[in-house]
Amino acid sequence: MDEKTRTFYDQFWPRSVPHYEETKKYMLATIREKHVGRSLDAGCGHGVCSVVLSEFSDEVTAVDLSGKCIETAKIIAEKFGRVNISFRQEDLQQLDMPDGSFDLVWCWGVAMMAPRPELVFRNIFRVVKPGGVIYLGVYLKTWLSPVHQFLRHLFRRFFATGRRKQFVLDFFAGLTGLAVKMKGQEINLRPDNISIQVQVEDWFYPPFKTFYSPGEIIAKMRQQGIDGQVIQAQAGRMKSATIFVVRGVKRADHA
Ligand SMILES: C[S@@+](CC[C@H](N)C(=O)[O-])C[C@H]1O[C@@H](n2cnc3c(N)ncnc32)[C@H](O)[C@@H]1O
Repeated sequence: MDEKTRTFYDQFWPRSVPHYEETKKYMLATIREKHVGRSLDAGCGHGVCSVVLSEFSDEVTAVDLSGKCIETAKIIAEKFGRVNISFRQEDLQQLDMPDGSFDLVWCWGVAMMAPRPELVFRNIFRVVKPGGVIYLGVYLKTWLSPVHQFLRHLFRRFFATGRRKQFVLDFFAGLTGLAVKMKGQEINLRPDNISIQVQVEDWFYPPFKTFYSPGEIIAKMRQQGIDGQVIQAQAGRMKSATIFVVRGVKRADHA
């Protein structure tokens, strides 16, 4: 199990649960299926996405590396009275589920956080049923990606805790606020209850991160019998300029 990422998210999502309504609005604008049998929330974090999936799925399986996230997700599911979600603490790199288990897989902002993302891709692609669908959100590779990686390593090494870390979070929050003000937009970049500081933490502090081009993801899907199409080029409920979303459909004749 990837202990570094587990430890990071153990302390992260339990204190930063996003608003249900905003998350739901985003998911329903993204997912085309109106009703499905079995769904997988791969990397469920706070569990809000699992709740939304459970409203149009017969059954949902919510998987996360982090035990604290699973605890939080269970509380959220109970709060919304959802009884068709089962939770599993598991590493998607070693996902122990049979091929073709799900009609729909939702994996948003997760796969590229693993030390070996290719194992996550292989597993989440193989558990999609023939004819089933996957929604995959991953970080977009741009010319800024190496700069980002450099800063992330720097911050994780020298500004990892206490006041130093708070300085980084406040500095980038201030910078973002300034940029937004200059553009004449609203300061709250993310309407689902996540502060800029929390977004900065999620951006610069996870232990592992890989950036991809849409072409790379579509090619990986094709190798496992999935036809992928970019449905959001630079988007997401995070209003992030660096996540893109691919919708993939597994060919009906793919075993
Ligand atoms: C940025 S959060 C995204 C949460 C949620 N999918 C969402 O869209 O809000 C990433 C989540 O993926 C989980 N995660 C990262 N690597 C994982 C892995 N290898 N297996 C299972 N979960 C993982 C983390 O614990 C964390 O909860």
